[in-house]
Amino acid sequence: MVTTPIYYVNDKPHIGHVYTSTVADIYARYKRLQNMDVFFLTGTDEHGLKVEQSAEKRQIPPQALADENSLVFQEVMKANEISFDDFIRTTDERHTTQVQAFVEKLLKSGDVYLGKFEGWYDEGQEEYYTETKAKECNYESPISGKPMVRMEEENYYFKLSKYESKVKELLATNDSFLTPKERKNELLQRVNDGLNDVPISRTNFTWGIPMPGDEQHVIYVWIDALMNYITAIGMAKDGEAKQKYWPASMHVMAKEISWFHAVIWPAVLMALDLPLPMRVHAHGFWIREGRKMSKSLGNFVDLTVLNKFSTHYGLDGFRYYLATEGPIGAQDANFASSRVQEVYGTDLVNTFGNSTSRTTAMCVKYFDGVLPEKSDDTSKIFKGYDWKSICEKEAAEAVRAYENLELNKATQAAMRIITKVDLFITETEPFRMAKDPNEQENLGAVLYQCLEALRISACILEPILPNKIKEMHAGLPLYANVSDSMGKRLVWGGLKPGTTVSKLALFPRLDPLDENGEIMKEEAQAPAASNKPAKKSKTKVEKVYSPETQAKIDAQGSLIRSMKESGKTNDDAEVAEAVKILKELKA
Ligand code: MSP
Repeated sequence: MVTTPIYYVNDKPHIGHVYTSTVADIYARYKRLQNMDVFFLTGTDEHGLKVEQSAEKRQIPPQALADENSLVFQEVMKANEISFDDFIRTTDERHTTQVQAFVEKLLKSGDVYLGKFEGWYDEGQEEYYTETKAKECNYESPISGKPMVRMEEENYYFKLSKYESKVKELLATNDSFLTPKERKNELLQRVNDGLNDVPISRTNFTWGIPMPGDEQHVIYVWIDALMNYITAIGMAKDGEAKQKYWPASMHVMAKEISWFHAVIWPAVLMALDLPLPMRVHAHGFWIREGRKMSKSLGNFVDLTVLNKFSTHYGLDGFRYYLATEGPIGAQDANFASSRVQEVYGTDLVNTFGNSTSRTTAMCVKYFDGVLPEKSDDTSKIFKGYDWKSICEKEAAEAVRAYENLELNKATQAAMRIITKVDLFITETEPFRMAKDPNEQENLGAVLYQCLEALRISACILEPILPNKIKEMHAGLPLYANVSDSMGKRLVWGGLKPGTTVSKLALFPRLDPLDENGEIMKEEAQAPAASNKPAKKSKTKVEKVYSPETQAKIDAQGSLIRSMKESGKTNDDAEVAEAVKILKELKA
C-alpha cells in the first residue's frame, strides 16, 4: 500500500498537493513494474471547524462544500494521471462508521478517556497547547502567527504518554521508518521532551464524526484523518480482502505533518494492536522566490499556473521537472520557470530525445528500420565500451534510487547512459562505417548497442515518463510482454535482431514560460533559456545574463507583478525597493 495524505477539502489545490501525489504515483508505478500488488490510496480530509466556517460563509451545508471541493481534488488527480486505486473521503459512510468502531475499541481498552483540559488553543490549526508549549511559542500559533485562545474544556484524551518509550525506540532504532533522516532527529528531540496525552475530541463545532456514546463531542480531525489509511481497506470490518494491504509500505507527505504520522499515528496503531507502516517519507516544501508559499503572501503555484506548465511541457515533461528538482529530501526547493525550461531542454530535448531520434533515424536509414542478424553479439566491444556492464551498473543504481525515493538519482542513472551513447556515437562514427561495405556488421553492432542502451534508459525512466515511454515503445519495442517485470526489462539483450524500429521524435523544442506560465515574448528570452534554434537577432540587442542572474531577474519580476496585482503601485516603498533590486540585477 502506498498513500498520499488526504488533502484538506477547504484548501485550493496547488503544487504541494500535485507534487506529493506525483512522488507517490512514481513510487506506485515503480512498484507495479516490479510486479508488486500495489494499492495506491489518496483522498480528501473533510471535517473540522474551518470547513464548517467556510460553508457558513457561503450559506451552504458543510457536506455540499465538501462535495464540491472534493470533486476538484479528484479532477486534479485524474488530470495529472495519478494512478490511485481508491479515493477516500472522510465523509464516506465506510470511513465514519469504522472510525467510530476504532475509537470505541480505544475507549474500551482505556487508551481513550474523558479528562479536563486547561490551556491554550490554536484555532487555525485546531490544536491544543500546554502552558509550557504555548509560552515557548509566545502564545501565538507557530503556523499562522495568530494569538492562541485560552481554553478550558472537558475532552476525550488519547493516552499518548503510555507509548512514549515505544515511539522513542521506534524512531531511535528503526532507520527506515522515517525518512529523510533529518526528520528523525527533529522528532526524536521533541519526543525526548516527553509525550503528553492528547485531546482527541472537540465540542466547539459539530462538523465531524460524533464520539461514540457522547454526541456532544466530535472526534478531532487528525485522528479522523489518520484513520483513512485503515478504513479504506476495511480494517475494522470482518473478512475484507483488502486488509492484506496493511501495513502500508509507504506513506508519502511533506515535513509539516511528520509529527502526526511518525509519532501520533504509530502510537494509535500500537493502541489498536495493528502493525506499523513500514515507512513514512516526509519530503521538503516547494517554495517560491525563496519564500514559503502561503495564503497571506498569495504566492502559491496554483492550479492555473500548474496547468499551463503541464500543457506546455506535456504532463511527462513537467513531471520530469518535479521529480528531478523537487524537494524530495530534507531541503526545500524553489519553483523557477527558468529551471523547468533548462531541465526540459537539457535532459529531455538535447539528451534523451536527441539521442533517441539520431539512433532510430540511423537504423531506418542504414537498415531500413530492421535490426540486422547477429547485431546483438556482445563479444564486439568498441573503444572499450562494455555496454552490458555499463547498463547493468546504472540499472542497479536506478533501482536502488527508486527504492530510496531518490528520484533525481534514478534519472541521473538514465542520463549517464544516454550521454555515453552520444559519446560512443562520436567515437565509433557509424556514419563513416555506413560508407564502408566491410563495416556493415560492425555498424549493426554499434547501432544495436546504442538502441539497447537507450531501451534500458527508457525502462529506467518509465515510472516518471509513462506516456512518453509508451510512445517510444511504439517505435522501439522496450519489452516483449507488458507484464514483464522491471527487473526483466532492465536485463541487457532485450532488443532482438529482426526487430522493426521507426524514427522517433519524443520531445519538441519549446519556448520558455514565465513564472505565471505565460509564453515569454521573444525579446524577454535569454538565448540560453530557449531550447529552440537561435534566430538571427533583429535590430534590438538583448542582454544575456548567466542562468543564475536570469533566474533572479525572473523571480524579482514576478514579485513586482504580484505586488501590483495586489493593488500596490510604484509609489509604494516596497515596490520601489523591489524595482531598485531588479535594476541592479539587470545592470
Ligand atoms: N489533511 C491533512 C493530512 C491528513 S493525512 C492523514 C493535510 N492536508 S493538506 O491539504 O494540507 O495537504 C498537506 C500535504 O500537501 C502535505 O503533507 C504535503 O504533502 C503537501 N504540501 C502542502 N504544501 C506543500 C508545499 N509547499 N510543498 C510541498 N508539499 C506541501 O495536511
